[in-house]
Amino acid sequence: MLYLYFWLCQLISIVSASGYARFFDNDSQGNDDDLLRDLLVNSDNIASWEPIFANITAGGLDYYEFSINKNASGQGFAPSYEVLIFMSGNICQYPLYLPNDTATMEKNIAANITKDIQLAMLYSFNESMASNTSMAMHQLFDNGYVESLAVSPIDTDYLGMDLGESPIYNTTLKYPNLYVMIQLYNTTTGKPLEVNSRTKDLVWNYRLGISESDLIYQWDERSWLEVLDTDNNSALLMSGNVTSDSVDSKTNYTVYDPSLYDVYIYTEKEYNYLYEAQLSHSICAIKHGNYLTTSAVENITSHDLEETHLRVQKYVAASNNGMSEFFYVTGLNASTTYVSILVKKVGQSGNLTDVGGILFDTEEFTTKKDDTCTLIHGLDFCQGITYSVPSSSLAGGNKTLLAQTYEYIATGLYNNFTQALQLIPCDNELDARYSPLRTCDDCAQSYKNWLCTVTIPRCTTEESEYYIKRKKEESRNSFINSYVNPLRDYFEVLPCIDMCYHIVRDCPSDFGFSCPSGNSNSALLLNSYNYYIEDSDIPTCNMLYNN
Ligand SMILES: *[C@@H]1O[C@H](CO)[C@@H](O)[C@H](O)[C@H]1NC(C)=O
Ligand SMILES: *[C@@H]1O[C@H](CO)[C@@H](O)[C@H](O)[C@H]1NC(C)=O
Ligand SMILES: *[C@@H]1O[C@H](CO)[C@@H](O)[C@H](O)[C@H]1NC(C)=O
Ligand SMILES: *[C@@H]1O[C@H](CO)[C@@H](O)[C@H](O)[C@H]1NC(C)=O
Ligand SMILES: *[C@@H]1O[C@H](CO)[C@@H](O)[C@H](O)[C@H]1NC(C)=O
Ligand SMILES: *[C@@H]1O[C@H](CO)[C@@H](O)[C@H](O)[C@H]1NC(C)=O
Ligand SMILES: *[C@@H]1O[C@H](CO)[C@@H](O)[C@H](O)[C@H]1NC(C)=O
Ligand SMILES: *[C@@H]1O[C@H](CO)[C@@H](O)[C@H](O)[C@H]1NC(C)=O
Ligand SMILES: *[C@@H]1O[C@H](CO)[C@@H](O)[C@H](O)[C@H]1NC(C)=O
Ligand SMILES: *[C@@H]1O[C@H](CO)[C@@H](O)[C@H](O)[C@H]1NC(C)=O
Ligand SMILES: *[C@@H]1O[C@H](CO)[C@@H](O)[C@H](O)[C@H]1NC(C)=O
Ligand SMILES: *[C@@H]1O[C@H](CO)[C@@H](O)[C@H](O)[C@H]1NC(C)=O
Repeated sequence: MLYLYFWLCQLISIVSASGYARFFDNDSQGNDDDLLRDLLVNSDNIASWEPIFANITAGGLDYYEFSINKNASGQGFAPSYEVLIFMSGNICQYPLYLPNDTATMEKNIAANITKDIQLAMLYSFNESMASNTSMAMHQLFDNGYVESLAVSPIDTDYLGMDLGESPIYNTTLKYPNLYVMIQLYNTTTGKPLEVNSRTKDLVWNYRLGISESDLIYQWDERSWLEVLDTDNNSALLMSGNVTSDSVDSKTNYTVYDPSLYDVYIYTEKEYNYLYEAQLSHSICAIKHGNYLTTSAVENITSHDLEETHLRVQKYVAASNNGMSEFFYVTGLNASTTYVSILVKKVGQSGNLTDVGGILFDTEEFTTKKDDTCTLIHGLDFCQGITYSVPSSSLAGGNKTLLAQTYEYIATGLYNNFTQALQLIPCDNELDARYSPLRTCDDCAQSYKNWLCTVTIPRCTTEESEYYIKRKKEESRNSFINSYVNPLRDYFEVLPCIDMCYHIVRDCPSDFGFSCPSGNSNSALLLNSYNYYIEDSDIPTCNMLYNN
């Protein structure tokens, strides 16, 4: 490696400027002068887990050398027979995506200035790849993203047993280095891009990371994010199950690092620039794009319902996925569509870094048209309430006060029930219980979930055959009429009938719970509950996330 550099430096002084393209002909293998001049455009050693940030232009060739560490791939008692090397990269900016210079970007888009140009990654264990690119593996960046895996074999010789009767091996790497090149290609010719008046000023800004433990840049086709609900100025998003991401998942499942996940919120227009420029798989483009707001700047967890500024608060809480990270987006405009994107940090042996990361697919949401409904969440008693409820004419737009009012109604009703529950002998010996499979806790939980959904109606301004139109003075129960006194008429998303089935299943028959059935009292059923329809675009009924 040192030798190579010495050699390059010696030769650079005697290089004469001449044609570039010859380097790629198979005949030009002997012409080291041209080769070396081009290699020196941006040649570098690349260290594990430290991505390169670089710019490349037409005619440029960035050449990197990665020293393979045979001990990095978990060589324990038994030796491994190969070393895996993960390469990944992102395009951050290029002439069709310049978030800080919209005028130039729009001009470039109109002229389709990057037509038939693509960035490619080439790699090989053989250093003479530089003079004969046909021996290298080629990989084009796709939607701003490239990834590849190189496998370097290890030669293993058995030497005998040591004193502790453990085998000793002599392991040697077949190849000490991996060589990686980055270059722009003309996709029409399949050859490196020529420098001409059209291409000479075009710059691609990219990142490249190499590691023996993981892909530094990753793309995940799931969104792993669910839009729970919106109102006219906020939205609540929930991640998938983060239980296994707890700081020490072996000893304590309750400690989470909320900085592991973040969301970026884009307006539809700004995201479309990125998407049309085909950078939608580049976490670098997303994190350095012209986003509206992000949770990445939050250094504490919170869920302040009274926040009105443009911001994304985050917190980790129980959900129907196990544990989820919640993102509360505030300060939004009414009747507007936004694009949300989840990202996850990656790290080397437990250390998270800000470089690289996992990018998930987008999730869109649209805010409601007016303040008929208010999004509430983070309640103490009805923790599963993470949806919009009828706004109150009494709370003066104070979302905290509104949430407290609904909780007050639900806790009042629940207290009478728990007194009744204490009279039923369900927490005694197993055989004295009403059912060997269900406990008082199951009954209390199902009752609580049911109670929360029936006393706290889910509100929407959208009309649908599944929803019931409620006049503001005629909500589903009198407590809402008097304590909440809804601001306007609204549509109610009825609770799912399953909420009722769960109490019947989980509670002693002494309570006499029963649910309306489709045959005998379908009118009652469809006025109080609805059925869950899996592939509907809109929720056909309401469920707590943690039912
Ligand atoms: C270039 O050389 C390699 C090996 O030297 C050969 O396999 C390949 O076919 C050649 N390519 C062209 C386009 O001549
Ligand atoms: C790439 O180019 C941009 C603008 O031309 C410049 O601001 C940036 O520093 C360059 N980045 C690197 C890594 O050279
Ligand atoms: C865009 O400009 C802002 C402020 O000038 C700067 O902080 C940011 O790094 C720039 N982003 C890119 C991708 O150049
Ligand atoms: C630009 O050129 C590419 C490649 O030929 C083509 O796929 C794309 O549709 C063009 N875009 C516009 C906006 O003309
Ligand atoms: C291990 O293998 C290498 C290369 O084959 C050889 O040079 C070296 O002497 C060997 N070491 C031992 C301890 O046998
Ligand atoms: C790519 O090659 C074709 C065919 O030689 C040429 O017409 C076109 O201008 C080239 N594109 C660029 C961006 O140089
Ligand atoms: C886990 O960590 C939390 C917060 O530090 C602590 O309250 C709890 O007692 C811990 N649980 C165990 C089992 O160590
Ligand atoms: C968190 O951010 C606030 C404001 O951005 C800052 O004042 C505070 O010092 C930060 N706290 C920590 C622990 O970084
Ligand atoms: C969440 O993840 C944990 C750990 O991987 C798992 O034990 C649990 O069953 C998951 N929860 C759900 C609801 O899938
Ligand atoms: C994280 O990095 C620091 C400093 O680089 C190091 O001291 C520490 O051991 C690392 N932690 C783990 C879990 O690898
Ligand atoms: C909103 O209501 C809460 C709870 O009653 C109260 O603590 C808070 O001060 C109120 N906020 C405003 C701006 O009045
Ligand atoms: C709860 O029980 C008390 C006493 O039995 C009764 O007065 C009250 O009306 C009950 N509350 C509800 C909401 O049913």
